[in-house]
Amino acid sequence: MKYILITGGAGFIGSNFIHYLLETESKVDIVNLDALTYAGSLENLNNLPDPDRHHFVQGDICNRDLLDQLFREHKFDLVVHFAAESHVDRSILGPEEFIRTNIQGTFVLLEVARKHWQGQENTTRQDVRFHHISTDEVYGSLLPGDPAFSETTQIAPNSPYAASKAASDHLVRSYYHTYWLPVSITNCSNNYGPYQFPEKLIPLIILNTQDGKPLPIYGDGQQIRDWLYVEDHCRAIWTVIQKGTPGEVYNVGGNNQPTNLEIVNKICQVLDEKLPGSPFRPHINLVKHVKDRPGHDRRYAMNIQKIKDELGWEPTVNLDEGLQKTVAWYLDHQDWINHIHEKQDYQVWIQKNYQRKDQ
Ligand code: NAD
Ligand code: DAU
Repeated sequence: MKYILITGGAGFIGSNFIHYLLETESKVDIVNLDALTYAGSLENLNNLPDPDRHHFVQGDICNRDLLDQLFREHKFDLVVHFAAESHVDRSILGPEEFIRTNIQGTFVLLEVARKHWQGQENTTRQDVRFHHISTDEVYGSLLPGDPAFSETTQIAPNSPYAASKAASDHLVRSYYHTYWLPVSITNCSNNYGPYQFPEKLIPLIILNTQDGKPLPIYGDGQQIRDWLYVEDHCRAIWTVIQKGTPGEVYNVGGNNQPTNLEIVNKICQVLDEKLPGSPFRPHINLVKHVKDRPGHDRRYAMNIQKIKDELGWEPTVNLDEGLQKTVAWYLDHQDWINHIHEKQDYQVWIQKNYQRKDQ
């Protein structure tokens, strides 16, 4: 049995990872530590395949005493660290929480893991793993002809979010080199799929389209992202934990390069087909260009040769298939959507972010 601490497991990717792990692995026992910020919800953990192997604890990763107690009680041999403030636009309007959770929180988690995984005479146990989930945004922005980001590309973050993730990556790396804590890091591109909070592009567009609301496109909409279906990301993380070399970084991506306008167009086409009676068809007419995001990265692309060659992982769900599945999931989960719509802080965020962009 593997005793696992998952942080941020009530958020988008963390909850998908817990579903994935309980479906595919019988010998795992999970403690899920999540503060349940606006981005986390216990509804994301409904219908788990084997719920007795999942134990939820509401708490903050910056709370050292709580972490200490959890490590003492559960004797973890694996930490999978998702918890973070994750939205670039929020980091522009209020960076402080990003510094606290993403940098301070990662530091506290590393410290507690180090303390509990220390062996005799200051050695560190090598049969454990601290896996850190990071992002392609730490590498900055590419021009149209530039080669894709590799694991050795210079770190050059452009938003407070990306800078806080880069700082946490550096801390994780340093615990390997200084204390021989067996760590690994995955830097992944844009995820999409079930349970993604509708402040991010794809779910926001699906929800606004259904409601006949404007589809806000920042700037000219020619920015490029490398989209990966979330289940492929979960499989990549588990592959690296099982087969990856401690101390190493692995880039993960979806091998595609659509512009934001192309993505929005694809979603509108899927909804045109799935909602033939919609009064808002063709949905693409709802597109509205708004003021650009400050420091907006123009293009991301991931070179995934290392994880492919060394560990045999590659994406299996292509963009068209992934978008079909994602749109279908949101159409089938109106209750989940309604509960978010009912939250006042969600409406406040939407107003705050988009009013500013209309001016
Ligand atoms: P998310 O915002 O959906 O979820 C974050 C979760 O962390 C939430 O459940 C929240 O309650 C929890 N959390 C926040 N602060 C906390 C704290 N102080 N203590 C405990 N829990 C806390 O994020 P996501 O999109 O699922 O991203 C998960 C991780 O993956 C993040 O580290 C992010 O940087 C990284 N990542 C995301 C993407 C993407 O496209 N979404 C891509 C690459 C990497
Ligand atoms: O690349 C990985 C990153 O992907 C993760 O590290 C982040 O946690 C995750 O939020 C995501 O960041 P992005 O900023 O790329 O994702 P977002 O969905 O916010 O935006 C995707 C693109 O769409 C980006 O170019 C901005 C644009 N956009 C976004 C929103 C919300 C719009 O044009 N309109 C919008 O309303």
